Amino acid sequence: MLNKSNPIGVMDSGIGGLTVVRELQRILPGEDIIYFGDSANCPYGNKTADQIFELSCHMLQFLGSNGVKCTAVACNTISTMAERLRPCFDFRIISIVEEAAKYVIREKLSSVGLIGTEFTVASGKYAELIHQGAPDCHVVGKGSPLLAALVDRGDFNQHDINLEITTQVDNILSREKVNDLILGCTHYPIVEENFHECYPQLHLINPALEQANAVKTYLAEQNALNPQKKG
Ligand code: DGL
Repeated sequence: MLNKSNPIGVMDSGIGGLTVVRELQRILPGEDIIYFGDSANCPYGNKTADQIFELSCHMLQFLGSNGVKCTAVACNTISTMAERLRPCFDFRIISIVEEAAKYVIREKLSSVGLIGTEFTVASGKYAELIHQGAPDCHVVGKGSPLLAALVDRGDFNQHDINLEITTQVDNILSREKVNDLILGCTHYPIVEENFHECYPQLHLINPALEQANAVKTYLAEQNALNPQKKG
């Protein structure tokens, strides 16, 4: 039985997960939220699986010790290893990658572009999860080695950001003319306007919305929504 007044945990490798906090606050204004952004170790996307696992366990232990009733793993890179993390913790871990994949399946997309960290794209997790419900969907991914770190250090040099976006997205479009692009890293919705400017024709999928809805559904099912007016 979850305690309604306990907080929701949100974690990310840095500030990117605040895009999930923004959506949670919009749809669940009564919830208290504990946010852990590990900017000291960001970016995660260029680390090994074992390094990411170890750092993630530290964050989850901290959140667990603060009594979270569930945790939204806002970081796509960490979410690719949700199955490895879940057995270590006794609260629900909600993976942003799983929720984004469900959106692609629900929308019956025949193809979709994916930009994320190199780790996320190389893990193949997005394609694996999408293919569970949409086996014929073409998932065309490209990892960005730079974009998350530029955003996390607040380096909003427009030229550098647009150059990194166009380098990676042009590569995707040269392989398949997709109409939809998953922003597969929580840091990217912070520069969503840059994506729009560079590719006004693309529909951008922000997985933060899907994840926030999944948190709400889970808490409602558990009868654990916080009744207070403002968190
Ligand atoms: N926030 C991470 C994600 O969503 C990316 C940033 C990083 O490389 O640490 O994948």
